[in-house]
Amino acid sequence: MPRTYLDHNATTAVNPAVVDAMAAVLRDDFGNPSSVHHFGQRAKAAIDQARSAVAALIGADPSEVVFTSGGTESDNFAIRGVAEALGPARRRHLIVTAIEHEAVLNTVKALSRHGWTSTLLAVGETGIASPDTLSAALTDDTVLVSVMHANNEIGTIQPVAEMARLAHERGALFHTDAVQSAGKIRVDVKALEVDLLSISAHKFYGPKGVGALWVRRGLRLLPILTGGKHERSRRAGTENVPGIVGMGVAASLAAAKMDEEARRVSALRDRLEERVLRAVPGTTVNGARSARVPNTTNISFDRVEAESLLIALDLEGVAVSTGSACSSGTLEPSHVLKAMGFPAHRTQNSIRFSLGAANTDADIERVVAILPGIVEKLRSLTRVPARA
Ligand SMILES: Cc1ncc(COP(=O)(O)O)c(C=O)c1O
Repeated sequence: MPRTYLDHNATTAVNPAVVDAMAAVLRDDFGNPSSVHHFGQRAKAAIDQARSAVAALIGADPSEVVFTSGGTESDNFAIRGVAEALGPARRRHLIVTAIEHEAVLNTVKALSRHGWTSTLLAVGETGIASPDTLSAALTDDTVLVSVMHANNEIGTIQPVAEMARLAHERGALFHTDAVQSAGKIRVDVKALEVDLLSISAHKFYGPKGVGALWVRRGLRLLPILTGGKHERSRRAGTENVPGIVGMGVAASLAAAKMDEEARRVSALRDRLEERVLRAVPGTTVNGARSARVPNTTNISFDRVEAESLLIALDLEGVAVSTGSACSSGTLEPSHVLKAMGFPAHRTQNSIRFSLGAANTDADIERVVAILPGIVEKLRSLTRVPARA
């Protein structure tokens, strides 16, 4: 059966050029980058090259890039590193939006158990946080504001630069989780005016288990991993050389074809969206359609349980995702759609289609050909009445 992958926000296939570069490093450059001899220096040179490529993707200086084990660690490092560097006697208030990734939300929750206070910024139906809401939440005790650049479930882009300016005016630092925007749209640390920025390689055709935190020069933050003096004493542990090299190659490839690929993918996404809305009654796009990353659409299907639709599509060879997490037999509603104020049924009937390099017109045709029939069948099996 041919398979159509429409889940690029979950992860992407590693680009073959990335695989080749990583294989070469695994085979030939096994040295420890901290070693002074030839083998170590070869590995160190490979890391330096990757650091420059990653820095170029986000408009940064290579010395400001700290390699990590991925987006989750980068988010943890940014939030814990700043909170703990400023010390218990200092500012203790954190602000994040209610639509952040769990890597941010659960880190703030964990700090709340150790004396930090937090505010979750509400977002409206657009799925875009408002600078005014941030203004109202900022206090003289706010140490850090963390607002994601693009949301993973609905793709909306947040007004990061404007919010960062507001945070700075009150003496707070600003972190953005750019895991879902880096590689898809232009991300420039200076234009965004942030202090810290997280990215993850596996979202832009690099390997899993490697990411980076960009730390503005001069910013003090405590390492969360203590040990040796790796990464300028900011992240201890022998470097994941093949992963880092893979991330560097993926970053260069993403930067080289960013505009062209964004145009191509957004045309496919828009066509998919239009055709689904037209062919399937009772469908609505969740969140603002204007300020979005080019590859994502999140569509609500009235009187359909998202999990059933996901499984039915998978049986037909189409991979999508729901924002809901199925845990211990109960369907958790998407925290993002919930934060947008949608009623319970809509937080459980929405599907995320996230497109990418693998997709062509043929994929869109395929989905549009099978989706109306599947939805109709699922609806015929449910007794839930149509909602206005
Ligand atoms: C917005 C966002 N932040 C953080 C992460 C975590 O990244 P990683 O999988 O590299 O830990 C993800 C992954 O889905 C994400 O979408």
